Parts: sequence; structure tokens; C-alpha cells
Amino acid sequence: MTKYNFDKVVCRKGTDCIKWDSTPLLWGKKNLLPMWIADMDFPSPKFFTDALIKRIDGGVLGYGCRPDRWYDAVIKWFKENYNWKLKEQNIGFVPGIVVGMAHALRCFTRPNDKVLIFPPVYPPFASQVENACCKLVIREDAKGETFDINWKDFEKKIKGCKAMILCNPHNPGGRVWSRAELKRIAKICRENNVFVISDEIHCDLSFEKHIPFATVDAVQARNTITFHAPSKTFNVAGVGASEWVATGKEVAKKFADYLKAGEFDFGHYDSFLPATLLYTPKGREWLNQAMDYIKGNIDYVEKFLKENFTHPTLEFTGKKVRASNEEFAEAKVTETQLIKMIRPKASFLIFLDFRPLGLSQKELVEFIVDGAHLALNDGATFGAGGEGFMRLNVGCPRKTLEQAMKQLKTAFNKRYKL
Ligand SMILES: Cc1ncc(COP(=O)(O)O)c(C=O)c1O
Repeated sequence: MTKYNFDKVVCRKGTDCIKWDSTPLLWGKKNLLPMWIADMDFPSPKFFTDALIKRIDGGVLGYGCRPDRWYDAVIKWFKENYNWKLKEQNIGFVPGIVVGMAHALRCFTRPNDKVLIFPPVYPPFASQVENACCKLVIREDAKGETFDINWKDFEKKIKGCKAMILCNPHNPGGRVWSRAELKRIAKICRENNVFVISDEIHCDLSFEKHIPFATVDAVQARNTITFHAPSKTFNVAGVGASEWVATGKEVAKKFADYLKAGEFDFGHYDSFLPATLLYTPKGREWLNQAMDYIKGNIDYVEKFLKENFTHPTLEFTGKKVRASNEEFAEAKVTETQLIKMIRPKASFLIFLDFRPLGLSQKELVEFIVDGAHLALNDGATFGAGGEGFMRLNVGCPRKTLEQAMKQLKTAFNKRYKL
């Protein structure tokens, strides 16, 4: 067995990577610790990077082609991990999932069609719908801590929609939708003849059982396209390699023909290597270890928040009490955790909940950027319901995470004079 070292800090500065090299430009500040965009600071599996080096060493960088091995690896991965039996004609290549989604919208909807999304959600869902000239329909959450579906609102809003984009598992928040929830979503979409784009990019990193949306309802499956990739799973997003899956004959053919016509399914020289080499037992070995490490990081943040941001607060009960012949408003002291988190059931992104601090979004952003010197994803950018949150990427060595938490605590103590 190969033992991978996720504690190793790799300097990514100066490698033209968005996370480290674009942060100063995007935030206009030099000293921020980047814990935002969803790639990890871990080296990709070495056996994979060795294969890339060997390719480059060959020296000739001509056109690539999609080998049969790529299909075999993708089909095997879905069968082994999700018991989803696919054939070659059900799958195809797209360089990225946002790109794939943009094409799916153009292929399966027309301008002015209504498309529903579930905010707070990965921001390109909204922008891609708008870029495809479709009308955005926003489903509201049920009130609560965990972004439960407000089914009544969903059933109302889905009427007249041509399509819906599902994030399965959900980003942000890392919610893994249950079979019952997916079945209910599928039933509602089926009854309203809604085409579903299911983005399952984070599914291989689920800590709970992931269920592909297209496997819960045979009829809706024929009106669904799923996107999946090795990019998040094995930290190879920069290689530009993803897959689409459609078990409906007509949907698969229409999308394959559309992509082929524009050569949108044409991968670059190394695009077919990630799935071929990583959807394998060796890839699984790396992934299991990465997930153990990520789980350790999530545990660490959960404990840190509990231990460092739980404070006594005074709560007025609304009753009056008499003491020494005087009347006072009754109050009790309660322990309140002022910075909380939604524990992700999948992936390496934690939605931090700052709502108990009662800050406006502007104040929260200033607190994180100017106070804690952290570059996090602003919760408000995920749409309705994201206000009061910030998204923290814990796909990094523990040392980096400890530094981030230390900066958060220093800022908190300074702001609240503790
Ligand atoms: C839900 C979701 N979909 C898609 C992407 C991006 O995928 P790609 O880089 O393949 O476009 C991300 C990246 O964070 C994501 O979280």
C-alpha cells in the first residue's frame, strides 16, 4: 500500500494557480491566506503526475484521442461505486462541468425558458442560466439550519419550468440528498416534464452514501443529464477533464451530436489520462486516504469553533422579577456558539455560519478580510440564504488550516475585546 503524506505543505505561489496567485489581485490585498476556490492544496496522486511527466517527456504534443480505456474506466467507476450500469453510448467527454452545463442549457432549452435552481448554490448555476438567456427561477428553502427543501414552494415554482439544475451533493453546505428526497424531486420533475441537469462533481468525496439522481426514477432518468469528473476527487481540476452521463437514448444522442458538431467534446492531449488512471484501485487508495485527512480537518474546525467561539450571553425571558422591592427584567445566561458551521456530508468545503454575530454582510466581509486576513468565499455570492455565511476550503495541510483558525480567533478577540 502506498502511504500518501497530506501534511506536506507545497508552495503553489508562482504556479499560475487561481487560489494563490490571483488572490492578491481579486481582493486587492497582498497578505490574505487563500482558503476559497474549490481545489485542494494536496499534490495529486504521484503515480498520476509521473504518468503526465512521462507523456511530456515523449516530446511530441500533437492531438490526442479518446481511447477505449477511458470508457472502460468511467463505466467501471460508476458500476463499482454507485452500482450504476452504463454503456459507452451513455457517456461522453466535456472539458469542464460549467462548460458542460452551459452546453446542456443551450442544447436542451431555448431563450426565455424558465430554469430553476436551489440557492444558496454554486454561483455559476445562476450565471449560466442567465448567459443562456433563460429565466432564473429560485426555489426557497424551508426555514432552518440545514437548507431543507420547502416542498410546497418547490412544487409551485417548478410549474412552467423547462429545466432544473440540481447540485448532488449540494455546494455549499455539503448536503448529501437522501434517496427519499431525490425520488420526490424526480417525481415532481417528471410530473412537470422538467429536464434535469444534475451536477455530481462532489459525489466521490461523500462521507455518506451518494445516490446518482438518474438512478432513482427510470422515467425521469430519460430526461436527465448528469455531470461528473475526476477533478475535485483527485485534485486534477487544472487538467480539464469531465464526463457527462445520460441513460435516455434521445438525450444522449442529442447531446453527443451537439458537442461533436462544435468539437466541444475534444479533449486536449492529456485530458483522458485522469479518468483512465485514477478511476482505478490505485486512485481509490489515494482517495480513501485523502478523505480520512479531510474528515480530520472537518473535525478539527468543528472542535475549534466550539472551543473558541462559545461564550456566555445574556438572554431576556420577557418576564419580570421582583428583588429588594424593585422590579427587574428577568434574564438568563446561556452559552452561545457565535461562529458555527454546517458539517459537510461531502467534500472539503465548510459553510461557516456567522449569523449569531449579527453583522451585516459588509461587516462580515470586512471582519474576515481586514480582521482575519483570510480569503474565503462570501456566502452572499451563493444567492438567497447565503448571507451570514462564508465558505472555508479545508482541502489543505493541517498546518495551513491551523493558521487560518488562529487568524480567525485573533480577529474575533480583537473585535470583541476579549
Ligand atoms: C458544484 C460545482 N460544480 C462545478 C464546479 C466547477 O467544475 P469545473 O471546473 O469542471 O467547471 C464546481 C467547482 O467548485 C462546483 O463546486
